[in-house]
Amino acid sequence: MRLKRIAIAGLVLGLAFTGWCQRRGFRWPSRGSESPSLARNEAEKRVLATLDQAQRAGDMYQNVPASDGRLLRVLAESAGAKSVVELGTSTGLSGMWLSLALLETGGRLTTFEIDSGRAATARANFKKAGVDHLVTLIEGDAHRNVTRLKDPVDIVFIDADKDGYLDYLNKLLPLVRPGGLILAHNVEMAPEYVRAVTTSPQLETIFSGDGGGLGITLKKR
Ligand SMILES: C[S@@+](CC[C@H](N)C(=O)[O-])C[C@H]1O[C@@H](n2cnc3c(N)ncnc32)[C@H](O)[C@@H]1O
Repeated sequence: MRLKRIAIAGLVLGLAFTGWCQRRGFRWPSRGSESPSLARNEAEKRVLATLDQAQRAGDMYQNVPASDGRLLRVLAESAGAKSVVELGTSTGLSGMWLSLALLETGGRLTTFEIDSGRAATARANFKKAGVDHLVTLIEGDAHRNVTRLKDPVDIVFIDADKDGYLDYLNKLLPLVRPGGLILAHNVEMAPEYVRAVTTSPQLETIFSGDGGGLGITLKKR
């Protein structure tokens, strides 16, 4: 009975608060994907304009939605990432989102793509966005090419062949610095990977549902 009264009081208060907000024209901020990113300077404006043009021109192939792109930028910038590795460049949209962070952190992106047409489009996009000096695009099979990497990595972003996620994790985890992140897109399509990142005591993993299911894994210190 007491619980029922508390629940009803909570409901009434909630409705009253909602009405009060509406009368004052206050709205909760819309979800990230619905409100545009606002440029703080010319460099950022150029990247955002190129992202917008690429989307309008249909210069796309399975790219991250803007909501996930923004999350990538937030994670990379807040981590102060100096070295980001991406598997699956496609036409460069996620690379441009990450570059927004790297412009601020003074970092660099190494990105891998097997399809030469998409790699060419990505290169053109990076140039147009004014971030080509931050990006090294390595064309070919990433499973083979990542073995060339030797330096520590702050963030790995896995977004290539889904059945290859576990192999990418196994090859790159040793390079990720303690406290670094392994991000993986569309993780619902990579169950073996999910098992690996959720059963290791060295890793802490959460999942973001807004967009294509982004796995966010911390390599513990
Ligand atoms: C989902 S798309 C990447 C989207 C991109 N991250 C973005 O959001 O803009 C996956 C890309 O991975 C590439 N890919 C698939 N297998 C690969 C491999 N073994 N090595 C390198 N790239 C690969 C595909 O050609 C495709 O362009």
